[in-house]
Amino acid sequence: MNLREEFHKHLMRNLPQIPSFHPFFNEALAVMLKAGGKYFRAQLLLNVVYFYKKERFKEALDAALALEFIHTYSLIHDDLPAMDNADFRRSTPTLHKSYDETTAILVGDALNTEAFLLLSRLNLSATISLKLVETLAFNAGLNGMIIGQAIDCYFEDQKLNLKELEFLHTHKTAKLIAASLKMGCQICELDETITKQLYELGLKLGLIFQINDDIIDATLSEKESGKPTNADTHKNSFVNLLGLKEAKKCKDKLLKECQFEGLNANFIANLKDLIKEYL
Ligand code: IPE
Ligand code: IPE
Ligand code: MG
Ligand code: MG
Ligand code: MG
Repeated sequence: MNLREEFHKHLMRNLPQIPSFHPFFNEALAVMLKAGGKYFRAQLLLNVVYFYKKERFKEALDAALALEFIHTYSLIHDDLPAMDNADFRRSTPTLHKSYDETTAILVGDALNTEAFLLLSRLNLSATISLKLVETLAFNAGLNGMIIGQAIDCYFEDQKLNLKELEFLHTHKTAKLIAASLKMGCQICELDETITKQLYELGLKLGLIFQINDDIIDATLSEKESGKPTNADTHKNSFVNLLGLKEAKKCKDKLLKECQFEGLNANFIANLKDLIKEYL
């Protein structure tokens, strides 16, 4: 089973749409979702459910959709002039460029709320749905991505120390990635121990993911990455703080620290493939 392909098909069949007389809102809603991306977070969630409780895979596709909506909203807002001011994302012009800022802000808002609507309507028990809502809200919201993004933007041109930088990256990126694995566990109703183990592993993978993103900014072209690069000069990034060589070393060290003990062997094999491909 190609999880990325399955998810892509599901996403294309379930693009959010609203009947109205707005001339282009539906089209704008779909642009960034259709542009694709790695679907890293969605694949993490699906990977758990596929190997631990396949019979819930259909429901998991919708939960993965909620994750991808939140992630895509975060990118649309991240690219706004008031934040990173980027003109290009997923190899396509950003929404505030192809439409306007109002549209970009509102499409982001729509995807954010739509994610929770999806979770509230899953064909799973109310107990599971509520847990998924809590996990996503906690990690994508104030306790996770939002405070991370706030620190990222506020401390431009002010060097943080390594501990602070780790806090920043863990919040802005790692928590949503850890939530993806945790939501998979919650759909499968796995026990506390494994859920905690996978959340902790997700935090580590998420930190590595953002260090790698910092390395991408310093080493790839706009064409290769699908977004502006050499754009982190004012940011606190691992490359800016440690230099490229040390940032790479730090990533390799964290990769070696990942703990896979006690997990389903097929799940680990697939997870390692994802790590190899995207980290
Ligand atoms: C980019 O995320 C923003 C970060 C948190 C580093 P991705 O690298 O997952 O972006 P897409 O979804 O593949 O476009
Ligand atoms: C974004 O981090 C993290 C988010 C929560 C969106 P970056 O600003 O480094 O992501 P890119 O490089 O623009 O994709
Ligand atoms: Mg940013
Ligand atoms: Mg950015
Ligand atoms: Mg970046």
